[in-house]
Amino acid sequence: MLSIPRLEIQDFPVAQTYRQDVVTGLSSIPKFLQPKYFYDETGSRLFEAICELPEYYPTRTEALILQTAAVPIFQTTGPCELVELGSGSATKTTYLLDALVQLQYPLVYVPVDVSPTILQSSAERLLADYPQLIVRGVVADYEGVWARLPRFESRRLLVFLGSTLGNFSQAECETFLAKIADSLQPQDYFLLGVDLRKAVPLLEAAYNDSQGVTAAFNLNLLARLNRDFDGNFDLTQFEHWAFYNKQLHQIEMHLRSLCPQSVYLSKLDLTVEFAAGETIHTESSRKFDLTELGGLLTELGLPTVKVWQDPQGWFGLLLCRRT
Ligand SMILES: C[S@@+](CC[C@H](N)C(=O)[O-])C[C@H]1O[C@@H](n2cnc3c(N)ncnc32)[C@H](O)[C@@H]1O
Repeated sequence: MLSIPRLEIQDFPVAQTYRQDVVTGLSSIPKFLQPKYFYDETGSRLFEAICELPEYYPTRTEALILQTAAVPIFQTTGPCELVELGSGSATKTTYLLDALVQLQYPLVYVPVDVSPTILQSSAERLLADYPQLIVRGVVADYEGVWARLPRFESRRLLVFLGSTLGNFSQAECETFLAKIADSLQPQDYFLLGVDLRKAVPLLEAAYNDSQGVTAAFNLNLLARLNRDFDGNFDLTQFEHWAFYNKQLHQIEMHLRSLCPQSVYLSKLDLTVEFAAGETIHTESSRKFDLTELGGLLTELGLPTVKVWQDPQGWFGLLLCRRT
């Protein structure tokens, strides 16, 4: 009998766009860097530490919802392959895999993440824990190739957890969701976890933790640029700054220059001048309204079939079906 390998990982490097994105972002006014560049090995590890922080409610709240929602999700979808965008450590994915085991459905998991180290380590851990699991990982930007990859099961459940959708602006979010709808076939499903609007102190505390882990995560981006592009950012001359922008319903994370300074990235031959107080915008984390989001998904051909929330109404999990 032929046996198929349980783990395969395809790699679609993003190196070329990385260089150009850094040049563009640091040459713009105001300056910005895309959040996908947080996730080198250290960044991925720091994000896992953020998920454990007492102030960072999203991960444990979404996990709580998934515990009760996982079996009903697959009772609705029937057997299907699980494709997860921005899978990270895939810790919460285990609730979905447990439900597949309980329902005796096949276990085919396609994690898609820009970070090769977290993808490899999470895949190995899951394979050890689920003897019947097959993993077909994809190291790629989830805005790219994954949609063209072959299917393993006739029906697909596309999973996007952790409110990572919130990293997109309203316009980008609409484009991204339209692409998702386009990539799915009728009767496929889309499972989306989103952080909801709530009291500002709760939101701001989640991105300004008392142990300084979020600050370290944000500043690590500069350490990464120093390493990758032979740069001379002095990390002691920048500070983490996170606040809630009420107009745009989003937490914004910035790195703020503490003094006038000039930074040189030798491998890009790029000099970047900073005024005192000038910032690099490194991440937005939009907070959603379920009614608005449900309306948009319906317009795009992804009507919601079921929504779960935690008792405090902090986080939402939407199961949508491609019509
Ligand atoms: C906020 S974390 C969420 C991780 C996990 N889904 C969770 O809910 O805890 C975002 C994850 O998406 C990955 N990521 C961010 N931007 C990406 C992109 N453009 N393409 C692929 N992966 C990306 C990161 O490497 C990271 O693992």
